[in-house]
Amino acid sequence: MHVIVGGGVVGLSVAWRLARSGRPVTVVDPAPASGATHAAAGMLAPVSEVTFTEEPLLRLGAASLARWPGFAAELTADAGLAAGALDYRADGTLDVAFGADDLAVLEETAGFMEKLGLRVERLSGRECRRLEPMLAPSVRGGLLAPDDAWVDPRRVAGALLAALERLGVPIVRARVRELLRGDEGVQGVRLSPGDTGDGAHREAGGGPYRQERGEPYREEHGGPFREELRAERVVLAAGAWSGSLAPVPVRPVKGQILRLRSPEPLLGRCVRGTVHGLPVYLVPRGDGELVVGATQEELGFDTRVTAGGVYELLRDARELVPGVTELELAEVVAGLRPGTPDNLPLVGPGGERGLLLASGHHRGGVLLAPLTAAVLMGEERELSSLCSPARFAP
Ligand code: GLY
Repeated sequence: MHVIVGGGVVGLSVAWRLARSGRPVTVVDPAPASGATHAAAGMLAPVSEVTFTEEPLLRLGAASLARWPGFAAELTADAGLAAGALDYRADGTLDVAFGADDLAVLEETAGFMEKLGLRVERLSGRECRRLEPMLAPSVRGGLLAPDDAWVDPRRVAGALLAALERLGVPIVRARVRELLRGDEGVQGVRLSPGDTGDGAHREAGGGPYRQERGEPYREEHGGPFREELRAERVVLAAGAWSGSLAPVPVRPVKGQILRLRSPEPLLGRCVRGTVHGLPVYLVPRGDGELVVGATQEELGFDTRVTAGGVYELLRDARELVPGVTELELAEVVAGLRPGTPDNLPLVGPGGERGLLLASGHHRGGVLLAPLTAAVLMGEERELSSLCSPARFAP
């Protein structure tokens, strides 16, 4: 049996792929899909999300992007949903520039992408506005990554939970207090009392996987008292909290993100740019939602939304698309990305027998979920060394 610690998009994806292949799985999370997955915009944009110093990350992202259409189609079917239910779209990302410096950076990025055999189109300011008429007149040029895609992470998480339910996978709503260790390595998890989503992920300093004393977990539906779950393998997919259960080099990187709303979509594709030295992106959904993200703040386990965060996001989004100020401000949310020292994820054997890691996905958890599951299933050998946790072994 596999116990998956963490019910975000990564943990749920791993659980779904394992269960689908006939392996017994249990997921443990006090409030599934309420952490970084709930905050994420869902850009599947390996090209636009990296710099040219990050070739390994780009290779991982491109490989996972290639898996996404099949992953989305199978998930939609397994969850019993109608085609299109995940809002998966593959209309590309437009990265725009305002000044000569920005244009030079885009030109460098284009050269790097071409060297790696990735498709990219250089556009003038006028061509950018022809694609996206709501762009600011001051946009001087841009790069279109036509193969980039995006998806609604909340719908993906909902579909994963539905697919797991149909496969009979238990979701235990409880905190993991610690990993059970014995002579044979990691042998399961010890649970704390359940917490059914009243904001556990938002506690400063604490966290859903942090050690806490209390009553043992009583299984839902009148099941027996269980304080421990035994497992041959524990997959640690606890995002920014992974480091509280094992020596995993992850740190929380706070991101605040806005959801705006209009009757009609303002944009046809993802748009991003650098404003006041900070990257900002806009992700449109078919129902008129426009996601604006995201801040990057190193403040520990702090998930407060702040006036300054909202101000900066709106200020920078308005530089790209002045019309955003007309939209309804529907939601502000903050999440914690699990950052690693080299920005690459930690996927594979966790340095102790019985322990596997699926963590450290930083800005790319949604994008990298299909690849992560494939690596852990032994289906993706070529790229697995790039994200192997062994690179940080003492
Ligand atoms: N992938 C976008 C972000 O982390 O903000």
